[in-house]
Amino acid sequence: MCGIVGYVGRAEAAPILLDGLRRLEYRGYDSAGVAIVDRGHLATRKCSGRIAALATLVAKRPLSGSFGVSHTRWATHGKVTDENAHPHFDASGKLALVHNGVIENYQALRDDLVRGGDTNFRSETDTEVLAHLIGKLYDESCASTVDVHQKKARLFAAVRAALQQVIGTYGIALVHADVPDFMIGARRGSPLVLGVGKDENFLASDVSAIVAYTRDAVYLNDFDIVAVERDKFEISSLAGESGDHQVSKVEFTAEDIKKGVYPHYMLKEIFEQPDSVRDAMRGRLSLEECTAKLGGLNMTPAQLRDVGRIVLMGCGTALHAGRVGEYLIERLANIPTEVEFAHEFRHRNTPMTPETLVFAISQSGETADTLGALRESRRKGFRTLGICNNVASTIARESDGGVYMHAGPEIGVAATKSFSSQVVILTLIGLLFGRMRNLSTAEGSRVIEALEALPEQIEIVLKLSDQIKAIAKKYADVNGLLFFGRQFNFPIALEGALKMKEITYLFAEGHPSAELKHGIIALVRPDLPSIFIAPDDAVFSKNLNNIEQVKARKGPIIALTSGNGVNQLKNIANEIISLPAAPDCVMPILTVIPLQLLAYHLAVELGRDVDKPRNLAKSVTVE
Ligand code: M6R
Repeated sequence: MCGIVGYVGRAEAAPILLDGLRRLEYRGYDSAGVAIVDRGHLATRKCSGRIAALATLVAKRPLSGSFGVSHTRWATHGKVTDENAHPHFDASGKLALVHNGVIENYQALRDDLVRGGDTNFRSETDTEVLAHLIGKLYDESCASTVDVHQKKARLFAAVRAALQQVIGTYGIALVHADVPDFMIGARRGSPLVLGVGKDENFLASDVSAIVAYTRDAVYLNDFDIVAVERDKFEISSLAGESGDHQVSKVEFTAEDIKKGVYPHYMLKEIFEQPDSVRDAMRGRLSLEECTAKLGGLNMTPAQLRDVGRIVLMGCGTALHAGRVGEYLIERLANIPTEVEFAHEFRHRNTPMTPETLVFAISQSGETADTLGALRESRRKGFRTLGICNNVASTIARESDGGVYMHAGPEIGVAATKSFSSQVVILTLIGLLFGRMRNLSTAEGSRVIEALEALPEQIEIVLKLSDQIKAIAKKYADVNGLLFFGRQFNFPIALEGALKMKEITYLFAEGHPSAELKHGIIALVRPDLPSIFIAPDDAVFSKNLNNIEQVKARKGPIIALTSGNGVNQLKNIANEIISLPAAPDCVMPILTVIPLQLLAYHLAVELGRDVDKPRNLAKSVTVE
């Protein structure tokens, strides 16, 4: 949801900023821009479209200078136009600001500025209002100052004073033409990380933008403001207090965020699942005690035993993982478990008993809706834990404990490997809580065996990619797709449909198979295939009934099945995707992969931009 990158150092800033933006493009790709200061002169290039368009612009009219800011936009306020692209400027045109977030009271701030005589607005954005406000406060305080140290201090004070008037969320970076080799960053609700280099420092929405230059990072907290120079930085809070900030080592390298041999990040990430699933359980299984070890939960055995109810919150794919978790935890631990859309949970008055434990599930750890729900849950005094991939993300830091996915960077906008990692972790949680209750050692060790077999079984499923590609070619002209599953595989129907919608733009819906006869069957027709997720499990025969119902109405059927299911479906389904046999509780990790591949291959066949589908962004940091 918008990406920002800032640089102050000795190198030419333009290539570094463009490179950083390319790595943040997954956050938004409506428009992009860069502003760089060179010997007291601020120059900018910005345009609607992708970073490639901006790079062409910069190649035609190069920018020189060793400090500046840049932005890739996912539009919130104002249309996708060159004028609305960031950076935005103050009235003097000397201050350039990039922003990720939403200034909710921008209209009131703008009206105040207009009343004071400032009418020189060039865009429809909330960000420009903030730039004008900071510029005004700075100009008022700095009219006669020539000393560069004073200018820095006054610019910093102007940023602080302006942000004290802001209602909303922001990750910002700004530079001023009159204040050399100096950049300011601040955050509230939108992520911002400081990259600490040698004689150069960086600001970015995400470390992936800067990991090619430094792996030393300081993750800023909400209400932090940082003054950044080439060789130093100083962080203080909006209220003026200086805080304790550690420099951490980034876990991954620039190599890890390359596509390598794959044409798209999504395909790379699908194929990484044998490793990411292994990494999600690495060191977390106790064969001896037939349980899971999750020290990050920060809970004593007695506290684990006293949990009487679990709430799982998330959005999109993370929510679907939560839905699998609901089945898993209830099956393994017999604890009443509910799944909540994070945004709904936050604003409704969900009755919560005191022994409720809450999990916020989020790959990015920055999703505004999930973060808001986490804060609401903690405000009410409930122990709230995170299941996140991004280390040191806001959700990870603000929760009472949690479990990292260790899936490695996920760049494709469509979440894939994070889903399987989330489901693995929820299985570990079910196992741990189950073993604190009635789950026997024999049952516990069966779950462990099933988990340990997964990486090899995923390898087998990945070998189906060519078959699935052929199916995608055959069905490329369909008008939509329906997805059906029961029990553990009902959430996989939802996830399969979400993947399909996101990257092919085809109409797709997921439902419990049994809902067919309650209405959905009216949609069945020859140009709308039904995908049935029907492994050979306790509900196979029920799925079979539903498959027959679709068949009777001439709906094409693509069936994912296993074991005896292959034989039973061979004269009914138009296509059969045959999966390795596995216990039902881990089967979703195998059944989701063919659906990821089907969406991928169909999107490629339709010529879609798989890694950057229209209108979407990877990390949704606005509500
Ligand atoms: O980073 P999060 O897991 O919190 O993201 C939640 C959703 O925005 C995300 O899963 C989204 O639905 C994906 N684009 C799905 O592929």
